[in-house]
Amino acid sequence: MSSSNPLRDPRDRRLPRIAGPSGLVIFGVTGDLSRKKLMPAIYDLANRGLLPPGFSLVGFARRDWENEDFAQVVHDAVKEHARTPFREEVWQQLAEGFRFVPGVFDDDEAFVQLRATIEELDKARGTGGNFAFYLSVPPKFFPTVVQQLKKHGLSQGQGDSWRRAVIEKPFGHDLKSAQELNQVVHEVFRPGDVFRIDHYLGKETVQNILALRFANTMFEPIWNRSYVDHVQITMAEDIGIGGRAGYYDGIGAARDVIQNHLLQLLALTAMEEPASFDASSLVTEKLKALRAVKLPKDLGKHTVRAQYAGGWQGGEEVHGYLEEEGIDPHSKTDTYAAIKLEIDNRRWAGVPFYLRTGKRLGRRVTEIAVVFQRAPHSPFDATDTQELGQNALVIRVQPDEGVTIRFGSKVPGTSMEIRDVTMDFQYGESFTESSPEAYERLLLDVLLGEANLFPRHEEVEQSWRILDPIEEFWDKHGKPEQYTSGTWGPKAADEMLARDGRSWRRP
Ligand SMILES: NC(=O)c1ccc[n+]([C@@H]2O[C@H](COP(=O)([O-])OP(=O)(O)OC[C@H]3O[C@@H](n4cnc5c(N)ncnc54)[C@H](OP(=O)(O)O)[C@@H]3O)[C@@H](O)[C@H]2O)c1
Repeated sequence: MSSSNPLRDPRDRRLPRIAGPSGLVIFGVTGDLSRKKLMPAIYDLANRGLLPPGFSLVGFARRDWENEDFAQVVHDAVKEHARTPFREEVWQQLAEGFRFVPGVFDDDEAFVQLRATIEELDKARGTGGNFAFYLSVPPKFFPTVVQQLKKHGLSQGQGDSWRRAVIEKPFGHDLKSAQELNQVVHEVFRPGDVFRIDHYLGKETVQNILALRFANTMFEPIWNRSYVDHVQITMAEDIGIGGRAGYYDGIGAARDVIQNHLLQLLALTAMEEPASFDASSLVTEKLKALRAVKLPKDLGKHTVRAQYAGGWQGGEEVHGYLEEEGIDPHSKTDTYAAIKLEIDNRRWAGVPFYLRTGKRLGRRVTEIAVVFQRAPHSPFDATDTQELGQNALVIRVQPDEGVTIRFGSKVPGTSMEIRDVTMDFQYGESFTESSPEAYERLLLDVLLGEANLFPRHEEVEQSWRILDPIEEFWDKHGKPEQYTSGTWGPKAADEMLARDGRSWRRP
């Protein structure tokens, strides 16, 4: 029986989602993010025919550039980083809509010029007054930029046209700063016109969590405390801080990754089925899950933070965190963080969610592992099941995107020995379409005004409510432990799980 509901969005979802007349202004257009992700994503969208013919891109930065210099920078970035092949005719049409405005953020003259540029584009390219402002700048400049947009009449569209703000992470440093930031932004833009980027939500595999859970019947009945023993959410990096000392020191792994990416993954894994997939239904369910998160009573036993020490990685000798250029040798910033959380509701009561992230770990991998309870009774000899672990469903977010199911199977032979085997779904093998980059999806959604994949301010604040007490505890209690680069983190993290009779996966 069909379950289609005529009251829902009547559009045919098979039609490509193409943005209407619009343009994008990027502040901080000389930065790394803009060059490596935003410019290539815009070209890839144009190449896939998903941008309107008059789409316009305005770069704003403190450089003495003409439009042609800016176009050359975008050209080089596209050639180096775009996902789809370079096509001259696509490029030519796109590049006609490039403009550059030189200036610093508190320079009124530059914003007057920005306004004139937008008006010129509306006339020359038919952008219809619809512009998104992408703040790809250090967070301390967010307030100045949004206030300048307001002061110069750029934050509100005329008539039916829209103006939207796109904000990169970090959304604050703690709950208080996040609330202040949200207040500043909401004084200028309506909450529905603010798009906070958590690029994890633009990944196919993360959206697939919802497909896996709510488009199938076989997983949901066991997705609860009756069958699940615990959940492990991991984001491991094999690199150090690189040249990002200025950004990273004082922030650390928990603020940089757990507050946003991992708590969003937790919310998608734990939430109830939304009434529909519109933004507000999704936020409602994610928020309910985040609000039900309970911190452990003893934070000393159930949280761990640590710093990488020197070691060998990928055949190279690497420095410890405290020896990295630009890092205070007495820094207490965490490059590894692991925490145990519980979700206080009927579905998850008593099921621990273990979250961990770190730099210079054994491998680059992000995954969600739902680990199931052992069978309540085993009719087999203990010796035959020595190599049988717990069933697990693993959502591999990156790299090697897909889903793995681990279960026990009889080893061929005359005895009844049972061993773990895996069944794999790999995106690369099952689909001919290649996955778009997260930023392609997210930029397109901004232009379409679809907010499903953007955390709302309440979620951001709720996530800080979870993390703040942990950061405060760490501030007051001692120093981070050290772990050797290239390993899977500090001993204390292994002990934290061992006390619960469990162990971390070695992906
Ligand atoms: N890179 C990533 O993968 C990544 C990931 C997540 C979040 N983010 C966030 O995205 C934003 C941009 O990141 P990014 O890596 O591109 O940073 P970045 O390389 O440091 O670039 C920052 C940009 O801001 C501009 N800027 C800085 N101070 C300025 C000022 N006083 N006046 C005018 N322009 C100024 C810089 O211009 P100049 O060239 O003139 O200095 C540059 O264009 C940040 O909020 C960051 O936290 C980045």
